Amino acid sequence: MTLNIVTDPNPILRKKAALIKDPLAIDVQALIPELIKTMYRDKGIGIAAPQVGKSIRLIALNIKDGHLVLINPRIVSKSIRKELGEEGCLSVPGVFGMVKRHRKVKVEALDKEGKKTTIIGEGLLARVLQHEIDHINGILFTDKLVSKTRENKRY
Ligand code: NI
Repeated sequence: MTLNIVTDPNPILRKKAALIKDPLAIDVQALIPELIKTMYRDKGIGIAAPQVGKSIRLIALNIKDGHLVLINPRIVSKSIRKELGEEGCLSVPGVFGMVKRHRKVKVEALDKEGKKTTIIGEGLLARVLQHEIDHINGILFTDKLVSKTRENKRY
């Protein structure tokens, strides 16, 4: 099953999502495969649970060797250096633009089995991690736009 994407200005996208107390809870475990399928269906490179109407701290990333699920992710360190890159978002259809992100971030989270995991991301991976973690804090990339690029085309 795939899920409907919530789009801006739905207020759920602006809420600080709740910490997941039990990563192994049935509702969390049931949501994970659906979130991943929805991400692939819509060709997203990342997705956050609030984007499917669930205000919990769960994100999935589409990375080159598969997908990565992170529960309660948080950035524990980041490079001083930032770089500009183009972003879009499934919840803000048709809008693309340049956003400044830290070039490198270190993220601590729980994996889908509830075990502690650390991810170090650079470049695009760092960008997607920052974009998705913003989602669970109620922040959209359009809040940080430096300039709009194209409209109505997905990247
Ligand atoms: Ni997004």
